[in-house]
Amino acid sequence: GKVCLAYSGGLDTSIILAWLLDEGYEVVAFMANVGQEEDFEAAEKKALAIGATKYICVDCREDFVKDVLFPAVQVNAVYEDVYLMGTSLARPVIAKAQIDVAEQEGCFAVSHGCTGKGNDQIRFELGFYALKPDVHVIAPWRDPAFFERFAGRKDLLDYAAQKGIPVAQTKAKPWSTDENQAHISYEAGILEDPDTTPPKDMWKLITDPEDAPDKPQDLTITFEKGIPVKLVYPDANGKTVEVTKPLDVFLAASNLGRLNGVGRIDIVEDRYINLKSRGCYEQAPLTILRRAHVDLEGLVLDKEVRYLRDQFVTPSYSRLMYNGSYFTPEFDYIKAMIAPSQTCVNGQVRLRLYKGNVIVLGRSSETENLYDATESSMDELTGFLPTDTSGFIAIQAIRVKKYGESKKAKGEK
Ligand code: ARG
Ligand code: SIN
Repeated sequence: GKVCLAYSGGLDTSIILAWLLDEGYEVVAFMANVGQEEDFEAAEKKALAIGATKYICVDCREDFVKDVLFPAVQVNAVYEDVYLMGTSLARPVIAKAQIDVAEQEGCFAVSHGCTGKGNDQIRFELGFYALKPDVHVIAPWRDPAFFERFAGRKDLLDYAAQKGIPVAQTKAKPWSTDENQAHISYEAGILEDPDTTPPKDMWKLITDPEDAPDKPQDLTITFEKGIPVKLVYPDANGKTVEVTKPLDVFLAASNLGRLNGVGRIDIVEDRYINLKSRGCYEQAPLTILRRAHVDLEGLVLDKEVRYLRDQFVTPSYSRLMYNGSYFTPEFDYIKAMIAPSQTCVNGQVRLRLYKGNVIVLGRSSETENLYDATESSMDELTGFLPTDTSGFIAIQAIRVKKYGESKKAKGEK
C-alpha cells in the first residue's frame, strides 16, 4: 500500500522513509511550506533519491495566517503566560494538507517522525483521524519494529550509510527545533537542564536585543473586528511602507520584530502528556500583533465582555490548541465565541520596537466610542454627579462592613 510520510529532509524522517520502503510500502513524501527557512529543492532530491515515488510540497503560508494565526491574535492566545504556540498553531494546517495529499494520492496510511514523548504526535494524529477517520497511522517512534532496531543515534547513522542516505556534514545541533513563519522552537539536548543558559549562537531568527539597532522602529497596526488588516512603517530610508495582505502584514511584523530583538522566550512548560519540558522560542510576529491587539481592546472592548472572554474563552482556546484539540466539538464551540467579542475591535495602535521591547505609543478608533475623555477626566464635572459615587461606595460597603465586623468579633486579623 501507499503511505504519505511527513518528510522534513532531516536524518530521522530520511531513515523512516527508507525503513517504510524496507517494510514493503510505497511512499509519497509530503512537505508543508509553513514559512520555514528550508531548501525545498534539496529535500525533494533527497526524498526521491532514497526512493519516494513522489514528492509533494504544499504551500500553506497564506492559509496558516488567515485560518489560524490571525484568529489566535484575535483571542490573545497564550499558553502558560508566555508561549504563543507557534508550533501548536501550525499542526492543524499541516495535518489538513497532509490528509489532502494522502486522499489525492490514494494513500491508505500517513506517517510522521514525532517522538513518543511529545505533543506533536497527539496534535497530528487527532487531526488525521478527524479529517480521515478511516486513515491508518504509522508512528515509527512508537512502533517496536522500528525503535528496537534504531535504539540510538549510531544505529540511525549506520543504516544511513548502508542505504546511501547523505548525512549533513555540519555537526548536528545539540537541540531539536521546529520552525515556521510564526516562530522557531528549541528543545531537548543541552537545553534539558533548565538552568543551562542557551548559548548566544543558538538563537537564529531574532537579533540579540543587545545587538539591536540604537534607532527605534515605529509602526502602526490597524485592526478590523480584531483581525490585523494593515501595517504601516517607515523603512530604513524613511519611506512609508504599507501592507494589507494577511501574509504580508504577518511577515512585516515578523521582519521588524526580528531586527529589533523582539520575542525571545525561555520557559519550562507542561506538555499534554504530563511531562515538564524546557523550551526556548523566538516568536516575534505574534508578540507584536498580540500586544497591539490587547492594547486596542483596552480602548474599545466592553469591560464585562472582556472579563468573560479572559476568564473562559482565551484560556480554553489556548489549552485546546496546545493539546491538539483543534478538530473537536469543544474547539468549534470556543472558536464560535471569538467573533461576538470582536465586533467592536476596530482601530489602530502605534507601536515602537526598541532593543527587545514593544512600546505602545498610542491608540485610536474612528468608529468605536466607549472611551469618553471628558467623562473620564479628572478635571471635569460631567457624566455623573460626585454624590452618585458616594451612593455606589455605600452599597458596595454593606458586605465589606459585615465581613470586617465578623472577623473582628472572632478576633481574626
Ligand atoms: N513544545 C512546543 C509545543 O509543544 C514545541 C514543540 C516543537 N516540536 C518539534 N517537533 N520540535 O508546541
Ligand atoms: C517531538 O516529540 O517529536 C517534539 C516535541 C513535541 O512534540 O512536544
